[in-house]
Amino acid sequence: MAYLPGQHRKVLADCGKMQAFIRERVESHRRTLDPQNLRDYIDCFLIRSEKKQTNPEDIYSTEELVQCVFGLCIAGTLNCSDALVFSLMVMAKFLHIQGMLSIAAKVQREIDEVVGANRIPGMDDWVRLPYTNAVIHETQRFEKGSLEGFPRATTCRTEFRGYIIPQSTTVVPMLTTVHYDPLQWETPEKFNPGHFLDEKGQFRKRYAFMPFSAGKRACPGEALARMELFLFFSVLLQNFTLQLVGDFKEKDVKSFHMQYKMKSACLQMQAIRRSK
Ligand code: HEM
Repeated sequence: MAYLPGQHRKVLADCGKMQAFIRERVESHRRTLDPQNLRDYIDCFLIRSEKKQTNPEDIYSTEELVQCVFGLCIAGTLNCSDALVFSLMVMAKFLHIQGMLSIAAKVQREIDEVVGANRIPGMDDWVRLPYTNAVIHETQRFEKGSLEGFPRATTCRTEFRGYIIPQSTTVVPMLTTVHYDPLQWETPEKFNPGHFLDEKGQFRKRYAFMPFSAGKRACPGEALARMELFLFFSVLLQNFTLQLVGDFKEKDVKSFHMQYKMKSACLQMQAIRRSK
C-alpha cells in the first residue's frame, strides 16, 4: 500500500507520527519509572516487560506496547465520537413528527423533569432516565455501516454452520446482522426506542444488542464508552435542540450516515440553545 498513490498515504503517515510520539512517551516513562508509584498503563506494561519472559510467545516488547497504546487511542476516540454524532443526527432527523411529540422532544422532557436545568446530568441519573438511555441504545443498534467488528483470526480449524474455516483465517463478525435480525427485534428496520423499554417504560436489556461485540475479545472500553455517550448525549440535549441544515433535511438517516462515514458530504447541523 505504501507504493500506491491515494489518501491512504496520509493516513499511514499520520499513524507513523502518532506511533513516533507514543515511542517518545514510552522512553520518557522508562527513564522516570518508579516501581513504587505506577502512573499509568505504560508504567504497568514496562514493569511487566522487565519480568523474565520464559514463554517464547510472551509479547511484552516495546513495540507491542506502542501498538497497544496506539490501538487504545484510535479505538477509544473514533468509535465514541462517531456514535455520538450519529445519535445527534438521529435526534435532529426526528425533531419534527407531525401530530406527536418527537423522540428528541421526549428525551428533553425526561431530562427536564428528572435533572432540570440547573445542574448537568451525572451517572446517578442513568437509571432515572430510561427513555434517554433507550434512545442511546437504539441509535447504537440502528447505526449501520459502523464498526462491523475487528478482523480476528481462527486459532484452530473450526467448523461453523457446516463450513470448515481453516486455522489462521481472518474472520470479521458482522454485528449489524444481529442488530437487524427480525427474530430478535420487533421492528428492526425502524428507529424504535421501544426496543429497549418494557411495558412500564423502564429500560430493558436486550441480549441481541452487541455494538461492543461479545466474548473474551469484546471491547475493553465498553463501560467508559457507555458513560461518555450517556453524559455527552444527555447534556447536549438538555441544552440544545438540534436541527438539520440544507440538503440533509431531505435525506433519510441511513443515507446521510453513510455519506458522513464516506466523508463525501459535510455534515451540517444547527444547535439552538434552549431557553431555561
Ligand atoms: C461507542 C464506542 C465504542 C464501540 C462501539 C466499540 C466497539 C468495539 C468493538 C466492536 C470491538 C471489537 C471487539 C471484538 O473483536 O470482539 C472493539 C475493540 C476494542 N475497543 Fe472498543 N468500542 C468503543 C469505544 C472504545 C473505547 C472508549 C475504548 C478505550 C478507551 C475502546 C478500546 C478498544 C480496544 C483497545 C479494542 C481492541 C480489543 C482487543 O483487541 O482485544 N473502545 N471496540
